[in-house]
Amino acid sequence: MGTLRLVGESVRKSRRLRKARSLRYPNDRGRNPSPEPRSPISNLNDRENVSQKTEPVRSVKGVRDLLPKEMQLWQRVEEATRAVFSTYNFQEIRTPVLEYTSLFARSVGPDTDIVSKEMFTFEDSDRESLTLRPEATASVIRAYIEHSLYNEGGIHKLFYMGPMFRRERPQKGRFRQFYQIGAEVLGSMEPGTDAEVLEILHVLITERLGIREVNLLLNSVGCSECRPRYVAALRQALEGVKQNLCVDCQRRAESNPLRVLDCKVEADQPLIGKLPRILDYLCEACRLHLDEVKKGLNQRKINYEITPRLVRGLDYYVRTTFEMTSGTLGAQNALAGGGRYDGLVELLGGPRTPGIGFAIGEDRLVLAHQSAATQEAGANLIYIAWLEDNSLAAASDLARELRQSNQRVELVYSPMKMKKSLATANRLNARFAVIIGPDEIETGRYQVKDMASGQQEPVDRTGIGVYLQSRTG
Ligand code: HAM
Repeated sequence: MGTLRLVGESVRKSRRLRKARSLRYPNDRGRNPSPEPRSPISNLNDRENVSQKTEPVRSVKGVRDLLPKEMQLWQRVEEATRAVFSTYNFQEIRTPVLEYTSLFARSVGPDTDIVSKEMFTFEDSDRESLTLRPEATASVIRAYIEHSLYNEGGIHKLFYMGPMFRRERPQKGRFRQFYQIGAEVLGSMEPGTDAEVLEILHVLITERLGIREVNLLLNSVGCSECRPRYVAALRQALEGVKQNLCVDCQRRAESNPLRVLDCKVEADQPLIGKLPRILDYLCEACRLHLDEVKKGLNQRKINYEITPRLVRGLDYYVRTTFEMTSGTLGAQNALAGGGRYDGLVELLGGPRTPGIGFAIGEDRLVLAHQSAATQEAGANLIYIAWLEDNSLAAASDLARELRQSNQRVELVYSPMKMKKSLATANRLNARFAVIIGPDEIETGRYQVKDMASGQQEPVDRTGIGVYLQSRTG
């Protein structure tokens, strides 16, 4: 019995290994014999410069540091995100930034801009093609299959945060290393799930983070039954006009006509605007699904705009697709995007499992949140300005006391004139400055200056904690 169980286990284990292997080696090329590992700097012909350290080394184009000054905002956004996901009973997942290239080629699609132009792909020293992940949905699905999470049954509600990599032209809000906050729900085909996923996006972005001028664009891209009919109509319509479109669209018109609708070239837009609309080709089931999603949004009083050309730049979508834009962002106004991908788990070798999710561009979210948040960041800061050496001890006593009651306090230990001290408080966006000099120590009443109104009043030393708490809380 024990032996049988062991044999059963080892069969299951070897099946699992084979499945994981077929994900890694989709063409079943098998493991390559490992060639001699090459030194990472063997192709640098200026080896000497590497060790000379003459010039400072810069960061890679489109890739940036997030400095401590900015991190406060990022942390705030991430805390709000975790709090919201927790109320919807989502669990965190972390997948690697490095994956086999075939994962993205198979899921995102070879004709998409992401796969055909934007991936950071390189050959590892053992000749495997590896890619820095351009998005995380494919990785989450790979992990779901590789660890047989589906065996746990039920619906999996997962979220993630982390860096993604796309080789796009850098500009404001567009980076080559950027961050996404994403959610994936696996195991539900209900339109109610689509509506709840959109509710989460709405709650986080507009209610919790207060982003303004937000638009939710909604569409359906149909399913394997109705989409081929639409694609045939699109192909036919493109036949007559493709020679007037950009080179990329001429190629896409042949290989993957749906991708023509993603084209960003300004001159192509009038022609693209006249192409057939997918909403006119939806089958009954897809039409019903979309109607139910709309009903769910109406019930939640979430505004949306039906946008028939929103097909999204990734091949795995079926039925619901959506994007959230914000007018505060400028040219790169897409704050988040997502949709349903019912065939993706199967496509990557797992059991038939429906799925839906979204990813928010965290860099853009922080950017949109910035102006409101910068004011808020300093809103509760108390700056202690001390005037002469003998008031420093009183200043540090007060700082410690206020911090014990969880107030945010800044105390600078180098001596400064009052004018410079208050300028520092201003620069830090402090809400109040507490001024302590010889007179204040003698009278036992400290001056409290409201940095926004400029008004100043003396407050008893003993009641100062309660006073500040009531004004900042
Ligand atoms: P995506 O639309 O490619 O979808 O990306 C989602 C968001 O990532 C965009 O709306 C944008 O805010 C941000 N983003 C994309 N590229 C850049 C960039 N170069 N710089 C800054 N931000 C950028 C996906 O990635 C899908 N995986 C979403 C999804 C999840 N669908 C289903 N589940």
